[in-house]
Amino acid sequence: MDIIPLGPGFAAELRGVTLADVANDDAVYAAVRAAFEDHSVLLFRGQQISGEGQLAFSRRFGPPETTKVGSLGTGTHFVILTTIGDDGKVVPEDHRYALRNKANQLWHTDSSFKAVPALTSVLSARTIPDNGGETEFASTRLAFERLDPALQNKLEGSFAWHHYGHSRAKIAPGLATPEELEALPPRCWRLVWRNPVNRRGALYIASHTYAIEGMEKAEGLALIDELTAAATAPGTTYEHKWKPGDVIMWDNRATMHRGRPWPGDEARYMVRTTISATAADGLESLRPPKLQAAE
Ligand code: OGA
Ligand code: MN
Repeated sequence: MDIIPLGPGFAAELRGVTLADVANDDAVYAAVRAAFEDHSVLLFRGQQISGEGQLAFSRRFGPPETTKVGSLGTGTHFVILTTIGDDGKVVPEDHRYALRNKANQLWHTDSSFKAVPALTSVLSARTIPDNGGETEFASTRLAFERLDPALQNKLEGSFAWHHYGHSRAKIAPGLATPEELEALPPRCWRLVWRNPVNRRGALYIASHTYAIEGMEKAEGLALIDELTAAATAPGTTYEHKWKPGDVIMWDNRATMHRGRPWPGDEARYMVRTTISATAADGLESLRPPKLQAAE
């Protein structure tokens, strides 16, 4: 297996390894897992992609999420991100599918609004538009390490609130349905997620983050905006231009990502599997102390 760096200090392509190798071979999994801890974003090119194969690969890393209510693929282990409607035609730009893609174009990490946050997401490209539609990644680990030590210290002792309704309201009123809001109450997590393997800390923020515990609402939002801008500053990101056969996995503990726009009349179809974080991934240290005591 060869590791070819892709981005500024993070993200790498793995060559000489297939999704099936990872699914079937403990030693290959161990090598890929180590690369995942180091590089945060891993690209596999030229893969023979199937839902089953993607899921078998993903399961190596932990328990797969069951897709939430309101997402395409609900009740399965797959999230479908598409602009193709039931009639096979590309949906209009105000269609729920198109608006969901638009929400994904805000910098975020997946599932920070869930009861159990995600360790990793695995995304495969099935239909790629001719123009645009890239996925861009930022390292919140490198962003954290760029901050001055006093601020790092303060953030590591801080907790932030995440809510699905907050990010969706930025796109369109009513994009989050009452059913989704009911299923997804606000969650509070530590602002820094420390990787238990290499001990490196990363900012844990997303488009879903709407408040910082103990701070005025506006002050908290301003800090979240400031940290997001610093984490995603020009020159610090890796933008991936999708090709057929590409699969990318990312570490939701140490990165943010966003989709990039593409012409509204071009189809795009992507399939995601998402793996929940476990205690081994440092999940327990993310919980606010009060909740930790109660559970
Ligand atoms: C995702 C996501 C962005 C994209 O799959 O979680 O945010 O480019 N995707 O589709
Ligand atoms: Mn996402």
